[in-house]
Amino acid sequence: MIIAVDGPTASGKGTIAKALAAHFGLPHLDTGLLYRAVGRQVSLNGGDPDSEKDALAACQFPDDLLADPELRTEVSGGLASRVSIHPKVRSALFERQRQFATQPGGAVLDGRDIGTVIAPEADVKLFVIASVERRAERRFAELRDSGRDVMLEAIAADLAARDERDTNRKDSPLIAAPDAVTIDTSDMPRDEAVAHAIAIVEDRMRR
Ligand code: C5P
Repeated sequence: MIIAVDGPTASGKGTIAKALAAHFGLPHLDTGLLYRAVGRQVSLNGGDPDSEKDALAACQFPDDLLADPELRTEVSGGLASRVSIHPKVRSALFERQRQFATQPGGAVLDGRDIGTVIAPEADVKLFVIASVERRAERRFAELRDSGRDVMLEAIAADLAARDERDTNRKDSPLIAAPDAVTIDTSDMPRDEAVAHAIAIVEDRMRR
């Protein structure tokens, strides 16, 4: 069973994807981390994230970069959103994601284009959304709790800029697949959102 979980940053898609993977005993891939690694590698190379050539060269990042805590920062998220615009970067990362999705037994992947491009044949597609305000508050609390000095307004502006780039890019924009089920987590506590997602998957499995 392939489960595709797409949606914008801090919508709760990562939490839902991890919980589904644990519940159904499936491996999970956070595909945003791959784009974050490319963004970070461009910066380590002293390259320009807006240059397709520099971003493509950074797709050769070493695997241990995926464990770098720096990838979780807002700076890396912003770089990821810039490198992910380039079609050659997207195709360089395609095969790795596709292989993960099609492994025997199935998998859960979260990202922006899993249900539309990486695994259009996914058995269940979820599109997780939440208001910019709620997402900014969540990201703010997360960063503040990890000891970072952050401002709510700056986070909200950054999220809005990233949404704009992710939604309007030509190649694989952030968009719900026609057969995706949308979950709006704006007013849903974590456990409720997870239970709702599990119920949707179970319902699909019964059909
Ligand atoms: O989900 P996360 O915030 O870690 O993703 C970082 C950035 O990577 C996103 O803003 C998006 O531009 C890009 N991304 C993408 N396609 C994916 C996953 C992430 O373009 N499947």
